[in-house]
Amino acid sequence: MLAIIGGTGATQLGYFVRHHRRVARTPYGETSGALTFGEIDGQQVVFIARHGFGHTIPPHLINYRANIWALADIKVRRIVALASVGGIRPDLAPGTLIVPDQIIDYTWGRPHTFVTEGDKPFVHTDFTRPYDERLRQQLLAAAHDAGEPIFDGGVYACTQGPRLETAAEIRRIAGDGGDMVGMTAMPEAILAREAGLAYATLAFTTNWAAGEGGNTERVALNTASEQSNEALERILRILRQLVDTSKKAAVEQA
Ligand code: HPA
Repeated sequence: MLAIIGGTGATQLGYFVRHHRRVARTPYGETSGALTFGEIDGQQVVFIARHGFGHTIPPHLINYRANIWALADIKVRRIVALASVGGIRPDLAPGTLIVPDQIIDYTWGRPHTFVTEGDKPFVHTDFTRPYDERLRQQLLAAAHDAGEPIFDGGVYACTQGPRLETAAEIRRIAGDGGDMVGMTAMPEAILAREAGLAYATLAFTTNWAAGEGGNTERVALNTASEQSNEALERILRILRQLVDTSKKAAVEQA
């Protein structure tokens, strides 16, 4: 089953038919909210709102471990993470969709691993390519088939939040190689890897990052703007295509 981690809006739009919600119990405490089970074009999907259904949980307080554990527990195999980001690279203007291929982690103090006991053998998880390449390619193919322009690759710089960055911080991040900035990629991506789940992000720029694109005075996150609604519609078309392609592949295999 495919899981979608995202904002509140995605379950409210046409293609997603809601069936039921289920509260998950995990060894790490509560998930961001109940898991919402439903379907897109007859294919089962499960949705979890990262910031809670009322959008009340800030990035540094999200229980990433509970969310990922709960999805692994119900045997999800693929996770598409939706993420709003600020654009740093000059071609990533507000309203752009991207499937990033790398991450730089600037977060701190977040419970960031399932490896918590000091008396058991452990492994150093490989994270050379933080996103699942197969799922990334599936997302890109779905976007292509849906006729939606999208950027292939880019470095997602994950900051701590909840405050936005200073212009100098963004200059530093750009110097480090960051192309876009958001607050939720980590530890979500590494936890998915540790749990053995395929994870890829579908990012959309809601704004220019601080100091970029003429943003010299202040950054406004246009999450409720017409442009964001349009981005959400485009994202849903891509997800629908992804699900339809998987359905066809499953039929052909059977
Ligand atoms: N910075 C950090 N996170 C964000 C931004 C930003 O500019 N825009 C959307 N998420």
